[in-house]
Amino acid sequence: MTKISKKTANTYLTFNNPNIEEKVTQLMSQMTLDEKIGQTVMYASEMDVTGPVLDANYLEYIKKGEVGAVLNASGVSYVRKIQKLAVENSRLGIPLLFGFDVIHGYKTIFPIPLAESCSWDLDLMEQTAQIAARESSAAGLHWTFAPMVDISRDARWGRIAEGAGEDVYLGSLIAKARVRGFQGNLESTNNILACAKHFAGYGAAQAGRDYHTVDMSDIELRNTHLPPFKAALNEGVATFMTAFNELNGVPATGNKYLLDTILRKEWNFKGFVVTDYTSITEMIAHGFAENLKHAGEIAINAGSDMDMQSGAYKNHLKEYLNEKKLDKERLNEAVKSILRMKFKLGLFDDPYRFCDEEKEKQFILSKEHLKKATETAKKSIVLLKNKNKVLPLKNTSKIALIGPLADDTHHILGTWAAFGRENKNIISIKEELENKNIDFKYTKGCDILEENREDFKNAIAIAKKSDVVVMVMGETENMSGEAACRTNIKLPGLQQELIAEIKKTGKPIILVLMNGRPLDLSWEDKTVNAILETWFLGTNCAAAITEVLFGTYNPSGKLTVTFPRNVGQIPLFYNQKNTGRPTNVPNADPRYTSKYLDVANSPLYPFGYGLSYTEFTYSKVTLDANTLFFNTSIKASVTITNTGNYDGEEIVQLYIKDVVGSITRPIKELKGFKKITLKKGESKTVQFEITAELLKFYNQKQDFVCEEGEFKLFIAGSSNHKFTNTFFLK
Ligand code: GLC
Repeated sequence: MTKISKKTANTYLTFNNPNIEEKVTQLMSQMTLDEKIGQTVMYASEMDVTGPVLDANYLEYIKKGEVGAVLNASGVSYVRKIQKLAVENSRLGIPLLFGFDVIHGYKTIFPIPLAESCSWDLDLMEQTAQIAARESSAAGLHWTFAPMVDISRDARWGRIAEGAGEDVYLGSLIAKARVRGFQGNLESTNNILACAKHFAGYGAAQAGRDYHTVDMSDIELRNTHLPPFKAALNEGVATFMTAFNELNGVPATGNKYLLDTILRKEWNFKGFVVTDYTSITEMIAHGFAENLKHAGEIAINAGSDMDMQSGAYKNHLKEYLNEKKLDKERLNEAVKSILRMKFKLGLFDDPYRFCDEEKEKQFILSKEHLKKATETAKKSIVLLKNKNKVLPLKNTSKIALIGPLADDTHHILGTWAAFGRENKNIISIKEELENKNIDFKYTKGCDILEENREDFKNAIAIAKKSDVVVMVMGETENMSGEAACRTNIKLPGLQQELIAEIKKTGKPIILVLMNGRPLDLSWEDKTVNAILETWFLGTNCAAAITEVLFGTYNPSGKLTVTFPRNVGQIPLFYNQKNTGRPTNVPNADPRYTSKYLDVANSPLYPFGYGLSYTEFTYSKVTLDANTLFFNTSIKASVTITNTGNYDGEEIVQLYIKDVVGSITRPIKELKGFKKITLKKGESKTVQFEITAELLKFYNQKQDFVCEEGEFKLFIAGSSNHKFTNTFFLK
């Protein structure tokens, strides 16, 4: 028997507040058609450019009430100035919404989202989103275009940096945490509207090339790419943003199946949908619209409520109505969904409610925020290798500090760093070591990209005189993020060559990486003694890395994205399907199996993997029952002991395999995790409750089901482990 889950009614943020509905209706009755159309239009200010075009006349449009929202404008005085144009010049004085890409902080910059996801600390991610909201709202902003919840399994795709990695279960929980952090209950001016983006399938761009075609089965869409969006919606996310890509032949911005059938009809979404930057215009290039007018008609009818920067709605919406190509009720719905948010934010009571100079001074870059930035940075670091426990460093060691990112304060903030770079108090690793009176010699050695060997000699010389060499290397901040894809995911430039030269000195090498994607580290894994994956850690990067290097903080991060052995394996992720000819069948002829001739199928570093300065030992897993019914649960318990010499944190992970399904099922799926702290010698028992709900998936009929049969499980500190227990769902 398969148990079909009823379409869960949304617990999401309800807008059926009679007050607001009454006010919206009342306002709508006063609005002219032009004023209604105005609400569906968003333009970018010239303060920050995040897309290909700008319209210099946007301020004139605002005065005439022809704009509903502005992006890329922030700062109390600037926002106040533009808001006044709308409120004091337009007939009804409807206030503008101000939105910005506050992706991992406003001025206090946290680790890039992919890094932060490696902390597996949901409370922490909620807190950093809340701080980002507090700083943004103090700067006059009402809305962030975050969280980006795209699932991606392709390290070539630059925007993998902006998400929460490859896993659906973890990505969905992180989506909820970030929405909670940004929005809270939307009552106070410390919270802002969040935006689940990019709806949908953007992370599956062909060949890992940004904006490229996306084509997948409905089963893959529903089981892999939609869950984090549904999770964000269930958490009350106020807005969605359409993706640039086409999905199965239809651009997302004009995709009625996504925006109406799924988002409104199945999921009952009551917020509003904004397009991505000129994504309406881009339906022409997609070959899906003849011209801008045609593109706009498709978008508004599909369910895109607000037009970011294309001008289609401003210039053509009225024609669609006159030509009976748009039902006025559809326009009214779009306008009402936008007005609801403005009422919800209290902007009609006070359009300048978020413009508070005092708050701007008090909150932005506050001590409390900076402290949280250091904590988050530390917890985002993943120790990938530590041969012969070369880490942590001793204060007495003579250290050679080398590499293009060792004295950097620009790239360390990563992509989408908002106004983080205006902060002049950011210090580099080199400066942090100086501040701590560590004995070290420094030279840059090489650049990230430029092929210049002039400083090699210096680097070799200081390495020879040292006990240990710390090499800080990686990518530039703009080698990941939007429109930043790579076909070669090795360390760029001459960085590998410099490592090889330093290797010849025989000194132990600690490689500290700053990068926005999984890299091909196969050569480095064989060459250096330790590898710290630090991603781009944000404002207090140097403090965090120094604490880990010297053992003040024992690294606890675990990968949320697979590191392949080389780019040829991509897409590579931990929960692939078994195929009909898996390679791991004992006594089978290995020749006719699903494999490569030149590299193992396994990754270099798997999802869920990360080392510590201590060791954790797991007991056998015990189950309090071996049969699960639809209305019962099984408790899986395991005891973890810290058998090493450092206190530490361990992310205990539960993986389950559905052995046989009405569709093929992944070889394993993360179904639970708990982060625990263990003093050295301490033991703790961790328990997971397994229910039928946890085992559901979308079948071929698009029903969310779980099916009777055999399941296997294990509990470990990484996804790379054998199954240890079996249970049956009856
Ligand atoms: C960009 C991005 C999107 C961002 C928007 C506004 O092109 O795709 O993530 O929120 O435009 O800057």
